[in-house]
Parts: sequence; structure tokens; C-alpha cells
Amino acid sequence: MCTWCSLLATFLFIQGMSYAQRMTQEMLMTQYYEGRINQLEDRLTKCDQNIQSYEQKLYDFSKELRGNLNGLNVLRNEVKGQVDSVVTRVERVERELEYLHTERPDQPCVDIDDKLEEQLKEEQRKEKAQLNLGTDCNTVLTGVKSLKIVKRDGEAHGSWLKDPTKGSAKVYFFSGTKNSTVLEFTSLKAFVEGNVTQMPRRIELPFPWQGTGHAVYNGFLYYHQAGTPNQILKVSLRERMVSDRMLLQGAGRLPAYSLSPHTYLDLMVDELGLWVVHADPDLGGNLVLTKLDKGGLGLEHSWDTPCKSQDAEAAFVICGTLYVAYSSHYGGRSSVRCLYDIHDSIQAGDDLPLFFPKRYAVHSSMHYHPKDKQLYSWDEGYQTMYKLETKRKNEIASV
Ligand SMILES: *[C@@H]1O[C@H](CO)[C@@H](O)[C@H](O)[C@H]1NC(C)=O
Ligand SMILES: *[C@@H]1O[C@H](CO)[C@@H](O)[C@H](O)[C@H]1NC(C)=O
Repeated sequence: MCTWCSLLATFLFIQGMSYAQRMTQEMLMTQYYEGRINQLEDRLTKCDQNIQSYEQKLYDFSKELRGNLNGLNVLRNEVKGQVDSVVTRVERVERELEYLHTERPDQPCVDIDDKLEEQLKEEQRKEKAQLNLGTDCNTVLTGVKSLKIVKRDGEAHGSWLKDPTKGSAKVYFFSGTKNSTVLEFTSLKAFVEGNVTQMPRRIELPFPWQGTGHAVYNGFLYYHQAGTPNQILKVSLRERMVSDRMLLQGAGRLPAYSLSPHTYLDLMVDELGLWVVHADPDLGGNLVLTKLDKGGLGLEHSWDTPCKSQDAEAAFVICGTLYVAYSSHYGGRSSVRCLYDIHDSIQAGDDLPLFFPKRYAVHSSMHYHPKDKQLYSWDEGYQTMYKLETKRKNEIASV
């Protein structure tokens, strides 16, 4: 071999070697990249799978959530249903309590010996006959129709009333249970509107009043003098002077109505005149109805009634019949559950109890107005008016 040839061969060999080397390098690179790409593809696939699985989980989760929400709705409806049923049950219990109260024999005298009771009845009948003269008053209460809230003023307890004298429209306002001030309004409208140009007249009395049982008739105020057990005063509202006074024997030891503990003497006016009610501990706390002479405060007559002061809140007289409203400390509506007719022509029958429409709390007072046929009441600081449903007495008698 020639030197040139061997040089060439060497050159070619080297060339071939470097070519082969390059080829090998490129192949390795390609393999490497292919490997990386495969790895990336694998990871992408895995990622895809993960995303799918997350989506599935998300779907499952939201499905579960929807299911739970539906369940929650069902539960909510169930709870609502239960609350409704509890409310219904509470109302039923309230009605049942009222019913039980009604059923509980409020008629006293049950433990008085029969003979004695007969004697008492006979005596009362005689008494009644004596006073049954010259009255053509025939109004009988058959129901309490509606309630009107007139105003909210003054303290929790008190009383307000309208002078029942023909032609008078004056309204009197006694806030609280002891004071020597009375507010006089020219009319119901002035009282309701509280118009500053029609400010009430402040009347300062010579002696303070007590309780919620005041009566006004023909410009005179009849009231229980505070600080005395049973002194009744007749005071002229114009001159603010005492025109008469009397002591109501036996009164003042017990509140007239156990639910209105500040009132010992409840004075009232009806078609027949002036009355006063008190409770007598010697009669087991029963109410005593007394007719007074409006003029000189003379005692005309007294009747022991079968109506209890226990759980009573107020009372009023219509045509010589005493109606007593009862309530309870634990709610329920007030109702007239006892009556006593001095003429003995109305008996407490199936028509009792007479329920009052819903109210706020215990009535502090009720004042009957013969012409309006309304009760002016005080109900936890609200001045309210009850419209009364009445009948003629002979309609009842003919039944
Ligand atoms: C008496 O009544 C007046 C008028 O309603 C009132 O302003 C005053 O505070 C009352 N006084 C007491 C001691 O209750
Ligand atoms: C108050 O009463 C007077 C007299 O009745 C009347 O003229 C006036 O318009 C009333 N004012 C208000 C604010 O009601």
C-alpha cells in the first residue's frame, strides 16, 4: 500500500468514524426526546384521567348535595308542620282552659246548708220585690260584640269614662291607681285626637282617689277616698268641693276583684242610678252590690251576690243586673261568668259565659255607658271600647 493511500484510508476512516459518531449522538438525542415526549404524554393522559375523575367526584358531590338539600327541605317542612301543630295545640289548650274555668262551679253557696239557702233566697226575693217598682229598664246583655282600641296613654292601670248624663259628652281620665288629679276632655274626639287647642282641664280634687272604680254623673265625681278603707266622696267637678260623703260598712277589707287589687270600691252608674260593688270576706269573698242615692249618697239597698271576687277583674251593672268579668293570670280571654239580677228575672243560664274579644292583659276597669251601650275599658295602658249586644228582657223571658 502506498502512503497516500493509507493517508486517504485513514482520512476516510476518521470521516466515517465522526459521521457514525454524529449519527449515534443524533439517534441518542432523538431517543431521549422521544422518551421525554412519551413521559409527558403519559403525564398528560394521567392528568386527563385525574380531571375526569375529579369531574366525576364533583358531579357525585353536587348530586349528594342536591339530595341533602332536598332532605333538608323535607326536614324544614316537617319542623314547620310540627310548629304549626304546636301552635294549634296551644290554642286548643287555651280554649280548654277557658272551658274548664267555665265548667268549674263558680256558683257559691254549695256548702251552705240547704235550709239556710232557702231562707236566704226567700229573703232576697222579698227584698227584690220591694225594689222592683217603677222601672221600665229592660236591657239584657247577650254578648260583647267588638273591641275598639281608642288610645294608648297613661299608666298600666287606670280608668276612663264618659259622663252618662243626657247632653254631656265629657270624658274623664284617671291614670294610675292613686292620684288627686283628673283630666277632663270636652269630648271623645278631643280625647282621641289629643288636639293642643283642646287641652284637657286638669282638675285637682280636695282628696285623692284610689283604685279604678270611679263614677261621674251630672258633673259630680263619686270616688273612693285614698287612705280610707271605705269612705265614698261625692265631689263637684266644677267647684272641686265635697258635696257629700258616706262610709260603706263592711267594705274595704278585700279588693273587689282579685285581679285588680287596687280597687276596693267599684262605683258605677246604670239606667237606674248609682251603684257600688265590694267584696265581703264574711261571705267567702263574694261580691256585694249596693244601690246608693245619687243625691245625698244614702244607702238604698244591699244585695249579697253569688259572684266571687276570686279571678274577677271588673264588673258593671246594666238595668240592675250585675255582670262580673273574670280572667286568669295565665292568659286566655276574659269573659262574663257570673251575673246577678236584683229583680230576679234574669238567671245565669246557658248564655254564660260571654267572651270578650282578644285583649292585651287583665282589664283594670270597665265602665258601662247606658246610652252608648258601650264599655269604656282600660287594658294594660290601652283605652278600649267594647260594643255590647243587648236584648229586651221579655225576649229572654219568652224563650
Ligand atoms: C297624677 O296624674 C297626673 C295626670 O295624669 C300625672 O301627670 C301625675 O304624674 C300623677 N301623679 C302621680 C303621683 O301618679
Ligand atoms: C284642633 O281643634 C280645633 C277646634 O275644634 C280645630 O279648629 C283644629 O283644626 C284642630 N287641630 C288639629 C291639629 O286637629
